[in-house]
Amino acid sequence: MTRVVSCALALALAHVGLSANVPEQIHIMYGGDVSNDNMLSGMSVTFSTKSKPSASSISYGASASDLATSIPTRSTTQYHPDGTYHHEAVIPSLDCAAYPAGSPVFYQAHADSDSSAPLSFASSGCSRDAADKPLNLAIFGDWGYMDSDRRPMKIPATGDEFKGLFKEWSAQHTMDRLQTWKQEKAMDAMWILGDVGYIDDSYAHAPLSFTYEKDFDGFMNWIQNLTSAIPTAVSPGNHESECHSPSCVTQYLKHGRHLSNFTAFNTRFNMPSAQSGGSREGTNMWYSFNMGPAHIVSMNTETDFSGAEEETTGDAGIPYLKAGGFGVGTEYLDWLDADLAAATADPATKWIVVGGHRPFASAHIEETFKPIFDKYRVHMYFAGHAHSYKRSAPVAGETVHVVAGGAGCDEMGPPQEELFAQCTLDWSVESDKYSVGLLSISDEKLSWKLVNSEDGSVIDQLDVTE
Ligand SMILES: *[C@@H]1O[C@H](CO)[C@@H](O)[C@H](O)[C@H]1NC(C)=O
Ligand SMILES: *[C@@H]1O[C@H](CO)[C@@H](O)[C@H](O)[C@H]1NC(C)=O
Ligand SMILES: [Fe+2]
Repeated sequence: MTRVVSCALALALAHVGLSANVPEQIHIMYGGDVSNDNMLSGMSVTFSTKSKPSASSISYGASASDLATSIPTRSTTQYHPDGTYHHEAVIPSLDCAAYPAGSPVFYQAHADSDSSAPLSFASSGCSRDAADKPLNLAIFGDWGYMDSDRRPMKIPATGDEFKGLFKEWSAQHTMDRLQTWKQEKAMDAMWILGDVGYIDDSYAHAPLSFTYEKDFDGFMNWIQNLTSAIPTAVSPGNHESECHSPSCVTQYLKHGRHLSNFTAFNTRFNMPSAQSGGSREGTNMWYSFNMGPAHIVSMNTETDFSGAEEETTGDAGIPYLKAGGFGVGTEYLDWLDADLAAATADPATKWIVVGGHRPFASAHIEETFKPIFDKYRVHMYFAGHAHSYKRSAPVAGETVHVVAGGAGCDEMGPPQEELFAQCTLDWSVESDKYSVGLLSISDEKLSWKLVNSEDGSVIDQLDVTE
C-alpha cells in the first residue's frame, strides 16, 4: 500500500516537474558596455521560475528554429523564502554584420528541461548615428497592475478614497496603448520612472493575506508580452522600497525583512549599472545608457543624498524596515557628475536626458540636483511620483521638466497639487488624463509627445532642438 502511494506520488511529482518550472516573467534591457558603440545590442534577459532548477540558460540566434548559441545564467536568486527564483543572463554585444539594426534576435529561456516559447527583440545595430530613423522611447511613471474590476479595493473606504487609494482606477488603458505602439513598431524601448506596479499596495486588494510576491509575479507576467520584446528600463521609486502591508509589518522575520531596502526591485530587474559604472553589482539604483545620440541617465531620487526620503527607512517610515546607503559617502552624486561630464565630452552625444522618480517639487531634490543639471546641459528631466502630467515652459538653454505620472494606478485620483507647493517651476501644460509619453530621438531634435492612453489623442507636443 505504502509502495503504491509513494509510487503514485513520485509519478505525480515527475509530471509536475515536467511542466511546472517553465520560465516566466521574462524581461529584457540593454546590457552592453556604455563606452562601446555596441552598447544597445548587448541585452540582459531576466526571468523567473517557481522552483530552483539545477541549471538555467538562454539560447539565441538569428532564426527561431536555430538558437545556436547558449549562455548560462550568471545568477539565480531567491530573496523571499517562499518566492520565485530570479535568473539573469546577458547576451553579449552582437555582431552587427550578422544582426544589422532592426533584424530580429530570437531567444529562449531555459530551466533544466523546461523552456519558454521562442521570443524575439529587434537588434539595435552598432551605430549611435540616428540619421536613418529616430529611436523612440516610451516614458511614464507610476504604472499600476490591471484595474479596479480585476483587483478591487478591499480595505474599508469611505467615499471614493481611503488614504490615497481609490475605488476606481485602471492601468489597462496604458497597457493597451503600449501594446498598440509595440504592434505598430512605434517604440524601441520603454522607461518606467519608478513606482513600478504599486506592489506595496497589494494588501489593499487582499488585506488579510500576504500577496506581495504573488502580485509582483503577476505584474511581471502581465507586462511580459511587452517586456520580453521591448527593452525596459526601470528607476527606483518610493513604492519600490519595501512591503509595509499588515503581514509584512507584523511578521518582520517571515516577510518584512526580505522585502525591505529595495530588495525586490534590485533582484527582479537587471539594469546596466555595472556597464555604466553606476550602483553596485546586483542593484539598479543609478545607471546610464545610450540610445542613438542621446545619453540617458536613470537617477536615484530616493536614497544616497542628504535629505533623501528613504535614506534610513523605507516609504512608510517604520523604524525596523530600514533602507538606504547603496553607496559610500557621496559615491552616487560623484558618479552622476562624472557620468554627465563623460557624456558631455563624447562627440557622439547630442542630447542628455535624465529621469528619476521625483520631480523638482520638494526642496531637497531641486537643491541637490539643480546645480548638477546647470553645470552640464541636461536637455530634459523626466519624473513621475505625482499621478498626473505637467510640463514646464521651455526656456532657452535650460532643462525642460516633464512629470509623466499619469499611467494609471490604484493611487491615481485628482491631481496632487500639494506635492508642488514648494515648486518654483513655471508649468505650461497640465493634464489629469490616463497618459503615456513617447520621446523620439534623432540627430536634429528630441521630439516629445504625451498621448491620452484611452483614445490615442495627443495631449502635449514639444521639440527640443538645441
Ligand atoms: C502580445 O503581442 C503580440 C505581438 O505584438 C500581439 O499580437 C498580441 O495580441 C499580444 N497579446 C496581448 C495579450 O496583448
Ligand atoms: C541596502 O542594500 C545595500 C546594497 O546591498 C546595502 O549596501 C545597504 O547597507 C542596505 N541598507 C540597509 C539599511 O540594510
Ligand atoms: Fe512615488
